[in-house]
This record gives sequence, structure tokens and C-alpha cells, in this order.
Amino acid sequence: MIDVRSVSHAYLDGTPKVLDDVEVTFPPGQVTALVGSNGAGKSTLLSAMGRLLTPKAGSVLLDGVDIAKAPPTTVAKRMAVLRQDNRISARLTVVDLIRFGRFPYSAGRLTIQDHSVVEQALDYVDMTAMRDCFLDELSGGQRQRAYIAMILAQDTDYVLLDEPLNNLDMRHAAAIMQLLRRTADDLERTVIVVLHDINVASSYCDRIVGMRDGRIVVDGTPAHVMRTDVLAEVFDMDIPVHDIDGHQLALHWAPDRHVSHLTDPRRPA
Ligand SMILES: Nc1ncnc2c1ncn2[C@@H]1O[C@H](COP(=O)(O)OP(=O)(O)OP(=O)(O)O)[C@@H](O)[C@H]1O
Ligand SMILES: [Mg+2]
Repeated sequence: MIDVRSVSHAYLDGTPKVLDDVEVTFPPGQVTALVGSNGAGKSTLLSAMGRLLTPKAGSVLLDGVDIAKAPPTTVAKRMAVLRQDNRISARLTVVDLIRFGRFPYSAGRLTIQDHSVVEQALDYVDMTAMRDCFLDELSGGQRQRAYIAMILAQDTDYVLLDEPLNNLDMRHAAAIMQLLRRTADDLERTVIVVLHDINVASSYCDRIVGMRDGRIVVDGTPAHVMRTDVLAEVFDMDIPVHDIDGHQLALHWAPDRHVSHLTDPRRPA
């Protein structure tokens, strides 16, 4: 279980809090979507949970242990984090990147078991044929899949992914979400995934946590969250929700729907 306790953060002293007293728990074996508008604090929260950032106040407990006090390799073996912007400057091949995922286990000397996990991760993301390609020679979506494979190869109980579907085509996006679902259902892993597509969250996740202005404003099952009044609390938009074959889906694309606080380019200022 990940237990976020009264976490607050501001990037610079004297600036407004980007996380404001966040309290949330992630029980094992669930896929949770973290949603919210740009700047809501999703990446900051994920970074605090993944120990990529030390919050100004509060703590994050991993199965009861404060991650700030736990040895780094202990946390690395339990939790893998895919960042929103992945930039590795070294010229690496796909398979080498994924081998990095085994580093907390192998410390550089990969065993037969490590190699087989790497091969499986390549297969999971449909990148076996591109295993020896350099990352800077891939398309954006192919590169994203390589990074997801590196995260999966870490074989951790907790998997935190910040917008993993960025750049993915529909087939690969669906495949990755199915993979995350299986990871939770079959291996009892805990998956926390930042998503912008609320319909993906509704279709694949057990729970949706909505953030706004650094706070958690909504936390519930898709059935609870996929309602026009609840979505308005998160996104400040009037979003119609329809039941389609038992799925609650938002139909927020409508060219004639007025979106508040964005200027209408047809109107003079
Ligand atoms: N390194 C940083 N230094 C200063 N401010 C930052 C930094 N990173 C993020 N912020 C600010 O913190 C707030 C929350 O940012 P965060 O990246 O957590 O949002 P987000 O919910 O992930 O948004 P998005 O959907 O655009 O990725 C924003 O107002 C942003 O400008
Ligand atoms: Mg973000």
C-alpha cells in the first residue's frame, strides 16, 4: 500500500503550493487513474511518491515505511516510475535501455533470469523486432514503448506511469492498458497511471483520482466519477456522459460546445 500523508509542495519558497495537503492511499492490486487539468499537480504527486522529489511537508509510506528513510535500492526494487518526459542523452539501443531496468537486481551483471525478463518486456510492448535500434532513431510512440518496457522489466510491486499513452497509436494504447490491467489482476501489482483520456480511465481502471489546483477533489470508482457533475469538479467543464454497452463514456468533443476560460478566436477581444 502507498500511503500519501498530508503532502504539500511548492517548487520555490514563497510561491503557491502545487500540492496542498494531499491525503490518498493506493491499496495493492488496483489500477488507479490520476486525472486532472494541466498543472493540477499529477506529475508532482507521482514524483513525490516515486521519491524523485522530496515534498516540503508530509510523507509517503510504502507498506508502512517512510520512503524518505528507506534505502534507495529497497524502494527501487519495489517501485518503478515512468516520468512524463523521458530523455536519456546517451546513445542507447532499446534492449540496453530495458536492461537498465534490471539494474537494481543485477548491478550490471545480468543473469539468465534477467535476460528472460528483458525479452518478455520487449515482447509485451511489441518491440522485439526493434530491439537493436537506437532510441534516437525511433518514432515518438516506439520510444515511449521502449521506456514502458524498461519500467515493466523492473518487476516491481508498484508501477507508477506518467502519461504512458503519449504518442501511442490506438492499438498500442489499448494493448498497454490491457497489459497494465493484467499486471494488476494476475500479478497483484499496484498500478497508478496518469491519464488525460478520461474514457481510458473509465474503461480500464478500478478507481479514478481527480486532482485540481494541487488537491484531490474526487476519488472513486469509474461509476462514481463518470458523471457530469463530478467531472465538472475536476475539469471545470460541462461534459456529457453516456452509457455505451455498459461503459460510462464522456463525449467531450463537440465543435459547437463553448469551453469557458478559453478565448473564442472568432470573437474580437
Ligand atoms: N520544476 C518545476 N519548477 C517550478 N514549477 C514547476 C516545476 N514543475 C512543475 N511546476 C509547476 O507545478 C504545477 C504542477 O505541475 P505538474 O507538472 O505537477 O502538473 P500536471 O498535473 O502533471 O500537469 P500536466 O497535465 O500538464 O502534465 C504547475 O503549475 C507547474 O507550473
Ligand atoms: Mg504532468
